[in-house]
Amino acid sequence: MKAEQAVQPDTEAREVLAIRPARIEDAEALARLSGQLGYPSPLPAVERRLAQLLDRPGHAVFVAEHDVGAGATPSDPQVIGWIHAFGELTIESDATAELGGIVVDEAWRGRGAGRLLIERAEQWAREAGCVTLTARTNILRERAHAFYQSLGYSLVKNQRVFRKSVISEVPGTGL
Ligand SMILES: CC(C)(COP(=O)(O)OP(=O)(O)OC[C@H]1O[C@@H](n2cnc3c(N)ncnc32)[C@H](O)[C@@H]1OP(=O)(O)O)[C@@H](O)C(=O)NCCC(=O)NCCS
Repeated sequence: MKAEQAVQPDTEAREVLAIRPARIEDAEALARLSGQLGYPSPLPAVERRLAQLLDRPGHAVFVAEHDVGAGATPSDPQVIGWIHAFGELTIESDATAELGGIVVDEAWRGRGAGRLLIERAEQWAREAGCVTLTARTNILRERAHAFYQSLGYSLVKNQRVFRKSVISEVPGTGL
């Protein structure tokens, strides 16, 4: 596995975090972590959505992987976080990118994985020609607000979100 980005945390254990594009085999880890994000999702649903996203231009999913024994004796790397970003083009704005979601395993928070995931999404957004990256977050997620602000994100507005069901069954291949 070729890691795109790696960091050596300041610990005695030879722990390495790497960021790489998600693969369909990551679906189980993504499903588990989605529960920690507050959106419990059955594995088949995550597999279906991930397969669609991996095929879809304008979307990127990256994972943070932890490999205790990276180096001489590599162990099975474990996915401990994910991020999904997508590009948007509207009449009123130049191309922008937005986060569809980000989550780091509870046991791994505060150790730099979230920062690496955001930095990778920013790089993707730049390469896709997007002028900004936007994170929308529930007003109740105060820890996430502090996270984004510490990474240079400014609060630009508070919103109300309106929603209506327009179909009664989940389509297999729709948006
Ligand atoms: C938000 C989340 C992704 C952050 O990931 P993380 O790996 O813990 O973040 P990092 O360790 O990379 O922290 C990056 C920076 O944010 C800061 N930060 C992270 N969590 C913070 C908190 N709770 N309060 C204050 N600052 C915080 C860190 O201090 C760090 O800044 P520094 O590098 O200058 O010290 C993670 O907490 C999470 O998965 N939360 C639950 C899901 C969620 O809320 N997702 C966002 C939904 S919009």
